[in-house]
Amino acid sequence: MVYVYTILLQSGGPGWDVPKGRKDGRISKASETIQLPSPSFNVSQLQKSFSQRGLSLEDLVALSGGHTLGFSHCSSFRNRIHNFNATHDVDPSLNPSFASKLKSICPIRNQIKNAGTTLDASSTTFDNTYYKLILQGKAIFSSDQVLIDTPNTKNLVSKFATSQDAFYKAFVKSMVKMSSINGGQEIRKDCRVVNLIS
Ligand code: HEM
Ligand SMILES: *[C@@H]1O[C@H](CO)[C@@H](O)[C@H](O)[C@H]1NC(C)=O
Ligand SMILES: *[C@@H]1O[C@H](CO)[C@@H](O)[C@H](O)[C@H]1NC(C)=O
Repeated sequence: MVYVYTILLQSGGPGWDVPKGRKDGRISKASETIQLPSPSFNVSQLQKSFSQRGLSLEDLVALSGGHTLGFSHCSSFRNRIHNFNATHDVDPSLNPSFASKLKSICPIRNQIKNAGTTLDASSTTFDNTYYKLILQGKAIFSSDQVLIDTPNTKNLVSKFATSQDAFYKAFVKSMVKMSSINGGQEIRKDCRVVNLIS
């Protein structure tokens, strides 16, 4: 997450103070990363995953706005554009022309290593474009698109699509909340590596 903070600040988005250093783990367990939410989760699965970390539905919608920045590999959304299910080749919640574009970037037999696409059209600018794209059926991950499937989450998506200021305020509030999630062992001196024990 420290990495995400850095790009946010470089991309002209909101800045904020984090109350205390975030504690990171000293070891990385595959069994723990398995608990990360999947990009194919529905709203109830996302809500469960966030509530297990003390985060609300509003935090879910605000923090998903982190997808205003960055890139995704084909592997993270290919199930939406090829053999989606027994009746639909393509996820019907995808805008059809957008789905065609994704198919051309990620053909069924993709030969290009690291192929993929930016998460929104202004992927280096921290703005509310992500929410506008969800309303148009142009979200990359199913976990983003499903945020309009329930009335509560849809209202928040519409609110953030209409008001960048409301998005910034909610995002900062939820980032501060997320940064104080307990569970780590130490505050790192260098965010990329565990501290040396001397
Ligand atoms: C809601 C649950 C979330 C899911 C299911 C999810 C899923 C993903 C996936 C699958 C990728 C692309 C990985 C790849 O193919 O390379 C990604 C990228 C990214 N996510 Fe999330 N994410 C979630 C929440 C968040 C949150 C809370 C933030 C930050 C506040 C965030 C920020 C990012 C950023 C910045 C990238 C781009 C990274 C890059 O360019 O390398 N995501 N996410
Ligand atoms: C979400 O997915 C879970 C697990 O597949 C399923 O049990 C549940 O019914 C789904 N909820 C909705 C609202 O689709
Ligand atoms: C395929 O997905 C669509 C949209 O989610 C759904 O309406 C349809 O019932 C699904 N078909 C099957 C066979 O699961």
